[in-house]
Amino acid sequence: MTDSDIKKGLAGVVVDTTAISKVNPASNSLLYRGYPVQELAATQPFEAVAHLLWRGELPTDEELAELRALERAHRALEPEVKALIDLLPVQAHPMDEVRTAVSAIGATALAGSGNVLTAGGSVEQNLERSVRLFAQLPAIVAYGQRRRRGQELIEPRDDLDYSANFLWMTFGEDPDPVVVDAFNRSMILYAEHSFNASTFTARVVTSTQSDLYSAVTAAIGALKGPLHGGANEAVMHIFDEIGSSERVAAWLDDALANKRKIMGFGHRVYKNGDSRVPTMEAALVDLVEHYGRHDVMDLYSALENEFVARKGIYPNLDYPSGPAYNLIGFDTVTFTPLFVAARVVGWTAHILEQAASNALIRPLSSYSGPDERHVPGS
Ligand code: ACO
Repeated sequence: MTDSDIKKGLAGVVVDTTAISKVNPASNSLLYRGYPVQELAATQPFEAVAHLLWRGELPTDEELAELRALERAHRALEPEVKALIDLLPVQAHPMDEVRTAVSAIGATALAGSGNVLTAGGSVEQNLERSVRLFAQLPAIVAYGQRRRRGQELIEPRDDLDYSANFLWMTFGEDPDPVVVDAFNRSMILYAEHSFNASTFTARVVTSTQSDLYSAVTAAIGALKGPLHGGANEAVMHIFDEIGSSERVAAWLDDALANKRKIMGFGHRVYKNGDSRVPTMEAALVDLVEHYGRHDVMDLYSALENEFVARKGIYPNLDYPSGPAYNLIGFDTVTFTPLFVAARVVGWTAHILEQAASNALIRPLSSYSGPDERHVPGS
């Protein structure tokens, strides 16, 4: 093997099969269990898409009611988890807060489960753990934002579906249906995307027969980086820096001269546009209309047009979702935790799939250090 055989970053390497989602860069399409993600976002509540990703089929009315009942039963932030979050400095990044909370939920849930080799869990146990994390994450994320603003925890409401309750627990106001719908679409779009870095991380951890909570905790760490989930926050920083559409050209001249990466653009797999962008952009347009913030769309379009014209690199999902979450009222630091709340569904679906047909993930490396040498006097 020569160094030219090495696929740095595993680029172009197919490492396994998956039945969960199909990314097709040639047609810019994304299917969840065979269904185009745009159709799911236009017609389904997030809970139904979670059921689809975990179990392979859209739920019957009865199955959806069952999942919703379980999700509602676990929605309230557990007092031990709240106490632990309250111990963290309020300046801690919310991704560190979310990672710590998920790890603590795992420590509590697995207490007494004995030796680590059996901690991987059965399919039914892992499905139940997946629903519990799915149900708990909105409370963790919402409380995180409130805590940073010096506000009290808000208890969940049983009369609201997942997305509406998430907004309720964050803002303490009856959410407008237009906003709920846009937010629900964003959650569906963020839920799953094949072997991205964080999902692959979850699969690597699962391949050692470790437990679901450890795999999700590790995946949160991978998602935190600005080349992955952290980009939706970075998009908002760029919008704040630019300020208005008239300043785009001058800002871009400077950014490109300084070899800056323009966050929210580019993708390892899609080179002609991210399949999720048109659906999220439509949700952003609905929010812009709802809040009467056409200035946001002017800046959005100006930067996109200018950057695509200069570099031929297209926006990814983080580009429309950043300003959309900002309009809804989420703080910029809360954006990546929102990605966690959605992607936990994809991660756990992959954990189940990896565990069902496991092989330890252990690639090889090409050694590039010193030749063999000896300790003086040995
Ligand atoms: N801004 C400026 N230049 C870019 C950008 C960008 N956003 N993206 C790619 N390029 C350039 C690179 O500088 C490089 O140019 P060069 O060949 O002259 O050195 C070329 O395009 C190839 O880029 P790579 O980073 O090597 O491509 P890769 O496939 O590894 O990267 C990535 C994909 C990491 C997403 C990259 O496009 C990037 O850093 N984008 C910004 C971060 C971002 O938006 N991440 C979100 C990913 S999607 C998601 O998590 C929902």
